[in-house]
Amino acid sequence: MIRTKEKWGSRAGLVLAMAGNAVGLGNFLRFPAQAVQNGGGAFIIPYLVSFVLMGIPLLWVEWAIGRHGGQFGYHSAPGMMHAIGRRALWRFVGVFGIFTNLAVAAYYAYIESWTLGYVWHSLSGVFMGKTAEQVSQFFSDYLNLGSGHFINFSPMALFFLIVTLAINIWILSRGLAKGVEIASKIGMPLLLLFGFFLAIRALTLDKGDAGAVNSALEGLNFLWQPQFDSLTNPKVWLAAAGQIFFTLSVGMGSIHCYAAYLRENDDIALNAASAGWMNEFVEVVLGGSIIIPIAVAYLGLDWIQANVGFEMGFRTMPTLFQNWGPYLAAVAGVAWFGLLFFAGITSSLAMGQPVMAFLQDEYKLSRKRSALTLGGILFLMALPCVFLYEMGAFGEYDYWAGTFSLVAFALLEIIAFAWVFGMEKGWAEINRGADIKIPILFKYVIKYITPLFLLAVFIGSMVKPSDGEWLAALTSLFQGHGWPLADDSVIGTILNKGIADRRWFIDGMPTKMFIINMTRLLLLSVFAGISLAVYRAWRRKEKQS
Ligand code: PHE
Repeated sequence: MIRTKEKWGSRAGLVLAMAGNAVGLGNFLRFPAQAVQNGGGAFIIPYLVSFVLMGIPLLWVEWAIGRHGGQFGYHSAPGMMHAIGRRALWRFVGVFGIFTNLAVAAYYAYIESWTLGYVWHSLSGVFMGKTAEQVSQFFSDYLNLGSGHFINFSPMALFFLIVTLAINIWILSRGLAKGVEIASKIGMPLLLLFGFFLAIRALTLDKGDAGAVNSALEGLNFLWQPQFDSLTNPKVWLAAAGQIFFTLSVGMGSIHCYAAYLRENDDIALNAASAGWMNEFVEVVLGGSIIIPIAVAYLGLDWIQANVGFEMGFRTMPTLFQNWGPYLAAVAGVAWFGLLFFAGITSSLAMGQPVMAFLQDEYKLSRKRSALTLGGILFLMALPCVFLYEMGAFGEYDYWAGTFSLVAFALLEIIAFAWVFGMEKGWAEINRGADIKIPILFKYVIKYITPLFLLAVFIGSMVKPSDGEWLAALTSLFQGHGWPLADDSVIGTILNKGIADRRWFIDGMPTKMFIINMTRLLLLSVFAGISLAVYRAWRRKEKQS
């Protein structure tokens, strides 16, 4: 067996890095938006059920696939998938594990760069004395939105993107123990500190305090009052499962990669569960206690339900902080955007490492050269998101790489693990060196329930009916009126159902339709390019042996 020298420095470092991988922008920006859009308390039960039946099992599976692959010198998904599936086909399934990381990192690093820009602007007092409209306008100006131009060109946004990428690349080039591990050991405690500060301030906002018109607790009630009728609504289930994927970083190839640097008998069972639970704590307790309660206190529930979205963290939060007086407002701004930055960077590092590992393992590039190559590719891939933000490129990255691919890869990998590798071997792999005893029930959950759950999510997202009305759709089908496909179902998206005018050019100018289709072509080419790289790497190996 080949062993690389690179390993985690300590168990605490590993768990913090894995928690940092999971805890990200998704916890603070995506979760609140998803929860509000899906009815608050109605969202929580499907969310927690998805965590137990799909999230936790996938974590164990991915850690196991990763540690197993690491024993054969594989630290990225193509080799690992080959190691458990033992056929060339599985290597190409592993392409997902490079592709998603690259494409998600490209748009993710862009959001991460806004947080850095906003830390700077909070410190320099840009938001002081500005009205709500002006603060929101600042965001549009920052990204150069709504200018009527075809391209969003903002030197400032580009500057902070380059700085963000440079920091990431620098940390990655220092290696695991000296780079990622140290970054997590600094970033995670600071994130928790900032998070607790903001959550406590948020939850102590009563009606009449610091200009609040409602009690912040109304926001919490909305989130935490379970509504059981949502249990039969597939739309809420799909959203909840999608959030579990994104927030736990499963279905990406990123957890596999970190786990590949474990030693053969290092614990998986407890470590994976700890990192997963830590993420859930940060998501539901901290992520749920900042943006929504504060916004409810100042703007009311109706306003949030109408306006929620991930941009709210930038467009709205700085204004609300102004109610706390100039000093506290600056501190809160730095805490909020600083928290987002640390959450973001410990995740983007986790997306970069698999690509680095692929270049190092399969193309024998040095760490420095892998890091620089990654930086170059990421920069190029981020440019469409920057320049064509309003034309829809950013959204396409998020939809195909950040949502669809995760489910597709997770479904394939669990089949590979539980059915091709085999559940007996799989269970032994998960439990080797384990510091806790996982209930045997999970052996069956991993073999049957999780794959079926994933299959349901996969098919559900393919054919999601319009307005999420499954019953109405079935009735329509049986009455011979066909299936009313939702615009944002996978098939509907491929067919461009939501776009009324399908022309690529109008008056010689490219349309949104054109950009969206070109972005898909770009993503497909990236996928094909990585497949080719995998093909060539193995051909070379076969020649050598
Ligand atoms: N889990 C991270 C978040 O919540 C995102 C992420 C996805 C990170 C995949 C790494 C890999 O923001």
